[in-house]
Amino acid sequence: MAADPVIARFVGSPGCASSSCHGGAGDKRSQWVSWNAADVHRRANITLSVRRSAQIAEALKAGDPAASPRCTVCHAPFADVPAAFRVNALDRTDGVSCETCHGPAEPYLRSHTRPDFTRVDRTLAGLRDLSNLYVRANTCVACHQNVDRDLLDAGHPELVFELDGQTRSEPRHWKEAEGFSGAQAWLVGQLVAWREIAWHSSKPEQRDARAGAQKLEIGWVVRRAAKAAGIEGEDVDAQAKAVASMKWKPETTAAVLKALASSAPDFRDATPGMGQAHRAERLVLGLDRLLAASPVGTETKVEKELAELFRLVQSRPGFVPADFATALEKLAAKL
Ligand code: HEC
Ligand code: HEC
Ligand code: HEC
Repeated sequence: MAADPVIARFVGSPGCASSSCHGGAGDKRSQWVSWNAADVHRRANITLSVRRSAQIAEALKAGDPAASPRCTVCHAPFADVPAAFRVNALDRTDGVSCETCHGPAEPYLRSHTRPDFTRVDRTLAGLRDLSNLYVRANTCVACHQNVDRDLLDAGHPELVFELDGQTRSEPRHWKEAEGFSGAQAWLVGQLVAWREIAWHSSKPEQRDARAGAQKLEIGWVVRRAAKAAGIEGEDVDAQAKAVASMKWKPETTAAVLKALASSAPDFRDATPGMGQAHRAERLVLGLDRLLAASPVGTETKVEKELAELFRLVQSRPGFVPADFATALEKLAAKL
């Protein structure tokens, strides 16, 4: 049967692995090698065969985790792709592979190497433009923020999406474009995470105190940061797009850093609780990324103060807002 032109089929990672394509030596040709050797996504499917997965699945009565869509949707996404959307040879047990992030390859496999192809041509051919931070954040957040309540109760780790840090901890198989700012990536990622948390926690079956607190607290951090970057409005998705396409300057990073570092008064007299702990946790992750994106030397200047903030948010039940406020003031004073 001829391929339906409107259906983009997945071909599988071996289709990208030839040594003259992405399975060779050197920065330009080694993406498959790097993913295959070092990227946790390569082994996300194998996680479903470890004991902890069996325990989670048992608590859920979900059967074999490696065969349950409740798990494969994130750990082995090809398992859930309908027949019409894949070539016959596709290894359906594969982990999170090239096309999960870059888009199904059949329509662009031949053309994307053409020397006359621009980024726009490649995007039109179906290769997802992951250099756009909004597109990138939407790609990662699909698996990295929301987990259903019953999975968490069954022992699945809680997920906290943070685009900049998580992009850096992947063994990176690309060079960031000129003008890339980790601080901008952080903010786009947090806006998108907020949108997703709000959406997820509005579902009746997911609504609970934990989800409600997360939504409010990330909102508090993100609204403050976006405002300092000059972006306001009610529509979170529109804000994420606006931040992704704005010209981010070193002064923008400094303004956002200042806005977050000066928020001690909001913690000073707060009643201890889960909400405060969530808020502080997101705030510290943000400070970390903003400091990493600041001029050389800024981060080392407040190394001890930042480490203390990380220590204070380690335990949610043991979180003391007033202590956090004091530590935050110390960091702010050194900036
Ligand atoms: C189809 C789902 C999916 C997508 C899309 C995805 N991931 Fe993951 N990611 C996973 C799973 C599942 C794991 C856990 C792997 C394991 O240990 O089994 C993971 C693990 C990771 C880890 C290591 C654990 C951690 O959280 O520090 C990083 C870093 C990471 N992903 C970054 C990213 C980034 C950046 C993107 C977007 C460019 C992305 N991921 C897109 C599913 C996904
Ligand atoms: C929404 C996407 C998603 C779903 C659904 C999901 N996972 Fe995960 N899982 C992840 C991500 C992302 C991580 C990595 C977390 C981290 O390291 O921060 C992870 C981590 C894990 C870990 C810990 C791995 C480690 O090395 O610490 C286990 C075990 C696990 N998942 C099993 C399961 C099982 C079993 C199911 C089905 C019942 C499932 N997952 C469903 C996204 C998902
Ligand atoms: C977890 C998501 C994810 C997976 C899995 C993944 N990539 Fe990527 N890849 C990215 C991101 C994000 C970028 C950066 C995009 C940009 O800036 O243009 C990228 C960039 C690239 C680039 C451009 C390199 C450059 O410097 O411009 C190539 C080529 C590439 N990936 C190939 C692959 C291949 C081949 C695989 C599978 C072996 C793969 N990727 C798997 C997320 C992923």
